[in-house]
Amino acid sequence: MSAEIELRAITHAYRTYSGRLPVLEHLDIRMPPGSFTAFVGPSGCGKSTLTKLVAGLMRPDEGQVWLGGQMVTSPRATVGMAFQNPVLLEWRSILSNVLLPLEIVPNKLSKSRRVARARELLALVGLSEFEDKRPSELSGGMRQRASLCRALVHRPEVLILDEPFGALDAFTREDLWQTMHRLREEENFTAVLITHDLRESVFLADEIVVMSARPARIQHRMASRLPKARDLEVLYTPEAVEMLAALRRQIQIAQGRDAA
Ligand SMILES: Nc1ncnc2c1ncn2[C@@H]1O[C@H](COP(=O)(O)OP(=O)(O)O)[C@@H](O)[C@H]1O
Ligand SMILES: [Mg+2]
Repeated sequence: MSAEIELRAITHAYRTYSGRLPVLEHLDIRMPPGSFTAFVGPSGCGKSTLTKLVAGLMRPDEGQVWLGGQMVTSPRATVGMAFQNPVLLEWRSILSNVLLPLEIVPNKLSKSRRVARARELLALVGLSEFEDKRPSELSGGMRQRASLCRALVHRPEVLILDEPFGALDAFTREDLWQTMHRLREEENFTAVLITHDLRESVFLADEIVVMSARPARIQHRMASRLPKARDLEVLYTPEAVEMLAALRRQIQIAQGRDAA
């Protein structure tokens, strides 16, 4: 079951040796259950901080995060996360890396059910034949696919993706985007994607949120004008090109504020 994500008047600062570093400023946004929202914004503006707040790994100075109608006050097992570095355990096979969350998150599944669930996801991302391999035997794109399976294996209500495709070459990245669409069709989650690739945000998201330079505010929100079912060709349609141009302008504005 996917959950609604709601940020209510979130403000946050880090306390550092050189003083207080304001990072997020009064963020208010509601992401409906099952939606896919991409956040783009200048480097260092607070995007990863935002993901940690949503996952309950940190608490905001002010405001609240709500998931599925419940206020988040501690880390949530109903959240799955994937990052730029897939951090798979080298001494475990791919299958057993994917199974890891089911060993940690309380659940009533039998061993055979768990394995069946992990295999179902590995099949969806095209890794069935690699389940017995070690992470180092896989390409970067394959490791990232495995990491997506691990993030989803316990059927999280919310999937947080913090630049998971950022380190991949362009073609591999596009393959992964298509895999992401497939996962979205088959699985049920509300997704938050952090990216600095505007094409990625346009291809994957229903809504794209542009954040300003630090301390980040929500500078601009853009609802996708693309059909829900998408292949890569969609990026060459006038609608997508228009969205990309408008996003690029917004990013320039965001960076301008940084320089001011
Ligand atoms: N734990 C921390 N303590 C102090 N400063 C931090 C911490 N984490 C991040 N920062 C700083 O907060 C700002 C926002 O960081 P982050 O959310 O990682 O940005 P982004 O993901 O948008 O690049 C950056 O200037 C970063 O250096
Ligand atoms: Mg980051």
